[in-house]
Amino acid sequence: MPKITFVQPDGTESALDVDAGTTVMMAALAASVEGILAECGGNAMCATCHVVVVDPTRPGLPPVSDDEDEMLDCTASPRKEGSRLSCQLPVTEELDGLVVRLPEEQM
Ligand code: FES
Repeated sequence: MPKITFVQPDGTESALDVDAGTTVMMAALAASVEGILAECGGNAMCATCHVVVVDPTRPGLPPVSDDEDEMLDCTASPRKEGSRLSCQLPVTEELDGLVVRLPEEQM
């Protein structure tokens, strides 16, 4: 079961064991991780599920689609290297050990 760690802006970490087949966003919501709003329900239309992947070159991350790229220009906190929409990150075994930081703001 892949482990995904969410790091809050104050450094607090939540390490979750997540079923493959969900998304990073859905895993965060299911565990009530603060800082993921996901207002559009995972359709890459709100940018309130913004996370920053600590190692954006790691294997297992899908490429950023055009739609995701466009929405990442609309995030409340500044886009950074590693910024992703967590709803567009399917959880696979390959993502075991993924660490994402939550931004200061989502809206
Ligand atoms: S949940 Fe809306 S963009 Fe991810």
